[in-house]
Amino acid sequence: MPDVYGQGGIYLPIGLLAALATSSLRLWFYGVRPIYGATRFLHLAGMAGFLGLLLLIEVRRLGFFPKSSMDLMRRPVFVLMNTAFVVTVLTGVALFLYDPIGVGLHTMFLPKLILIVAGIVHAYWIERLPVMNRPQWRRGSALAALAIWLTVIGFSTWNAVERPLNPADIHRAEPHR
Ligand code: HEM
Repeated sequence: MPDVYGQGGIYLPIGLLAALATSSLRLWFYGVRPIYGATRFLHLAGMAGFLGLLLLIEVRRLGFFPKSSMDLMRRPVFVLMNTAFVVTVLTGVALFLYDPIGVGLHTMFLPKLILIVAGIVHAYWIERLPVMNRPQWRRGSALAALAIWLTVIGFSTWNAVERPLNPADIHRAEPHR
């Protein structure tokens, strides 16, 4: 039953998705299209801010622009990046709650969540290991961070464009996307 897109894959438990889909918060939220639109806008705006600032940091950790100092900008860059990330995650959770079954059955939804957890573990633990002072390790870690977050965006795009295999499941897809 969960594999409505015919791609196989892993999913959140269908019982959990069904319980969320029938909660009173979701039933209220589902009818309010402007809030959904604003949430989606904020999700994309947060993602754009996060990706831009991440690129700035990781491209320098890769060794590009060695003469450009980040010393004065380090704090604003990190504060803005973390704020953009929190906005993206909170609005992502809201988008999920808007349509738990439709979203949760997307082929790359659970893989996206797993990769986000991997990205957070990488940022807050792996990147802070003492070995990251070595240039080769630092470059490898910067490449890993870029790969993780670009794949998260790739998985999101996959989820947004895929359509159910069986037309009987078409109600799971947003008709206007
Ligand atoms: C707990 C965290 C997150 C959740 C629950 C979440 C959930 C969602 C949902 C439900 C959508 C609508 C598409 C769909 O039906 O799947 C979406 C779209 C999107 N998300 Fe997330 N998201 C999260 C975090 C992120 C992060 C961290 C990024 C990027 C760094 C991201 C990037 C995107 C992009 C680019 C789209 C738009 C795809 C398109 O319209 O082409 N999301 N997200």
